[in-house]
Amino acid sequence: MCGIVGYVGSGSSLEVLVGGLKRLEYRGYDSAGIAVLSPEGDLGARKRAGKLGVLVEELAENPLPDGGTGIGHTRWATHGGPTDVNAHPHFGDGGRLALIHNGIIENFAELKAELVAAGESFESETDTEVAALLVGRAFHDTGDLTEAMRRTVERLDGAFTLLAVHRSAPGVVVGARRSSPLVIGLGEGENFLGSDVAAFVEHTRRAMEIGEDQIVTIRPDSVEVIDFSGAPAAAKEFEVAWDASAAEKGGWPSFMKKEIAEEPDAVANTLRGRTHDGAVALPELDGVAEALSGINRVLVLGCGTAAYAGMVGKYAIEAWARIPVDVELSHEFRYRDPVLDEHTLVVSVSQSGETMDTLMAVRYAREQGARTLSICNTQGATIPRESDAVLYTHAGPEVAVASTKAFVAQVTALYLLGLHLATLRGTLDADAVAAQLTELEAVPTKIQRVVEASSARIAELAHWMSDTQSVLFLGRHVGFPVALEGALKLKELAYIHAEGFAAGELKHGPIALIEPGQIVFVVVPSPRDPSSLHKKVVSNIQEIRARGARVIAIAELGDVAVVPFADEVIRIPLAAPFFEPLLSVVPLHVFGMELATAKGLDVDQPRNLAKSVTVE
Ligand code: F6R
Repeated sequence: MCGIVGYVGSGSSLEVLVGGLKRLEYRGYDSAGIAVLSPEGDLGARKRAGKLGVLVEELAENPLPDGGTGIGHTRWATHGGPTDVNAHPHFGDGGRLALIHNGIIENFAELKAELVAAGESFESETDTEVAALLVGRAFHDTGDLTEAMRRTVERLDGAFTLLAVHRSAPGVVVGARRSSPLVIGLGEGENFLGSDVAAFVEHTRRAMEIGEDQIVTIRPDSVEVIDFSGAPAAAKEFEVAWDASAAEKGGWPSFMKKEIAEEPDAVANTLRGRTHDGAVALPELDGVAEALSGINRVLVLGCGTAAYAGMVGKYAIEAWARIPVDVELSHEFRYRDPVLDEHTLVVSVSQSGETMDTLMAVRYAREQGARTLSICNTQGATIPRESDAVLYTHAGPEVAVASTKAFVAQVTALYLLGLHLATLRGTLDADAVAAQLTELEAVPTKIQRVVEASSARIAELAHWMSDTQSVLFLGRHVGFPVALEGALKLKELAYIHAEGFAAGELKHGPIALIEPGQIVFVVVPSPRDPSSLHKKVVSNIQEIRARGARVIAIAELGDVAVVPFADEVIRIPLAAPFFEPLLSVVPLHVFGMELATAKGLDVDQPRNLAKSVTVE
């Protein structure tokens, strides 16, 4: 939610800021703005409601003098609608200071009342303006931007990242963070700040994490980090694992199309270096080895697609490691007084590593004594930094707002964890682990085949269905979370009412929704599976077909039993049951994207959403 970028150096701050905002636009896209200090030390700013393109046009019409210091913001509105006035930056110290913000200042109403009583007037409806006025007043008193920021953050409740520039502090950008993301980019004679490394990766891959409750001051040749009490703080440097081209569209019509095409690589890269001679090798879990051997329960936390990946993982981890696994939405978990202790392994799943609901849940779990493991796709993010251990997915940057390749990478990481736990607990022997890994290693090629074989037909189906008002998705066992994921993609991308159900639940109510012409996607388990699930799902198909449903089945190659009852069959290659979700989810991702495209919608930036949900 909200993207933030800051720059000091001898380059063009406008270019750096606009370039950074382009890469951060996935975080919020209802308004954008920048503020720069001119070489003469004047402070100039432009801000406009609408997508970044509107600001870029404004800058073309009303250029700003381009100095080497500036800040930029792309907004996802919380307090105050998406208008020019509410767009960031906001101003303090009589317009001499500009400030941008990501997060929510919870005590803004009382601070606002205090500032109004002190004679300040407000232009916007935002909580941010309070911080701008406070930093401005503190700068007026101290003449020091870092100290002004420090005095301000001491007074703020809530979650925030703030960046500020002041016309009397040339060549300086000051940032502060509490429970909201901010990373430093280290250049030669220039330095950067960003909500994530995408903001500056085209200029440098050297980055630094900033801890909770810390303030950073960047100048062209220095970076200083202190905590909120003013004491110096250490910051950890890391190298960004991908380069700028990975976050480019690279000729694809959309990031989503590119990212679906990258699903095979997302699995392969998450596996890379983590298997050795038929065994799982996860050295990143060495630090928690003792804790892992003492756990008696796993609790997976996440939101949206990440939670569905957790649900898929549950089936496999329980089957392989014979340990109870619960999956819970982070925001529900946090507020129900859950029972936890040091024998619970809390596994958070988050692409961004910044989702506030999941971060708060992880913090709560730690306070209760649980061990925490983060499955995350973003280096230097807050959740992995605050967890006992991290298993990074290596899906590469995911720019489209709706998650696709992150899902398959998350499932892969959970499977590696499941096999690791099974090995530790002795519930699978070495041959069984090796057999599962062989299956897992075959997945990337199979996903590739699904994308190649099904995309064209799915695009035709999507075109044909572009007037559809409602679509249902059914699945069982590991196919159930796949059905939920298919429905979520359709809701968020194509704005179509969609529901995912466990197929067994159908007769307990949802079957009443079936009327002639209702489209139902059914994720069909393999007929080779020794359980009777295939037969049961085929019976479910017959039941809805008898009531007029149009059935699109996602079924294994060679499954002929489903053919007489389905209007359309999308084929996936043969795989052992636990690996089917990694294949059956792909056509559903393609379908969501194609239906949105057929409706003329922006598949990368669906309405009302932001990729990184950093407010509760
Ligand atoms: C759906 C989607 C969201 C995210 C959810 C969690 O396509 O992208 O449901 O999965 O907001 O985000 P992360 O994984 O960043 O915690």
